[in-house]
Amino acid sequence: MAERVKILLSEEEVNKRISEIGEQISKDYAGRQVHLVCVLKGGAFFMCELAKRITVPVSLDFMSVSSYGGDTKSSGVVKIVKDLDESLKDKDVLVVEDIVDSGRTLSYLLELLGQRGPKSLALCTLLDKPERRVVDVKVDYTGFEIPDEFVVGYGLDYDQRYRNLPYIGVVELD
Ligand code: IMP
Ligand code: MG
Repeated sequence: MAERVKILLSEEEVNKRISEIGEQISKDYAGRQVHLVCVLKGGAFFMCELAKRITVPVSLDFMSVSSYGGDTKSSGVVKIVKDLDESLKDKDVLVVEDIVDSGRTLSYLLELLGQRGPKSLALCTLLDKPERRVVDVKVDYTGFEIPDEFVVGYGLDYDQRYRNLPYIGVVELD
């Protein structure tokens, strides 16, 4: 089967929106330090771009949870593959994700991280597919709401490929 990637959100659009979110976060966290928690691997590209645009002091940590395999459907299985290095105690934590789809991963993660005593806990996602939501999740910062299509690029993969695309695209199979 041949695969093509159709551009959904261009590099310019994505970068412009990340700048806006960075500005908003800088305002909302004025006078504080924000501790960004990146959900690997998908969140890495977004987090780096976002962090560069935040003007308040930033610290970073990374964690990895299991999500999709080679399929384009959620397995519903959430497991910590790599935990954070640092404690979240008394920190203003902002979880940075690539996409909220069913909401299963994030609802589990936020619950877990909330038990570690952060001063505050918020969620920032580059993409949101509200139509697909199965579990309710409060999203504080959203880059773009997108339709129910499987997307790649800017950290998002299809069977581990396409993460490096500098734009968001839709995989078409024919
Ligand atoms: P959830 O269904 O909200 O738990 O999403 C779990 C994870 O599935 C996300 O963090 C992504 O890594 C992945 N995912 C969901 N939708 C897509 C997509 O359209 N493209 C690539 N990965 C996706
Ligand atoms: Mg992810």
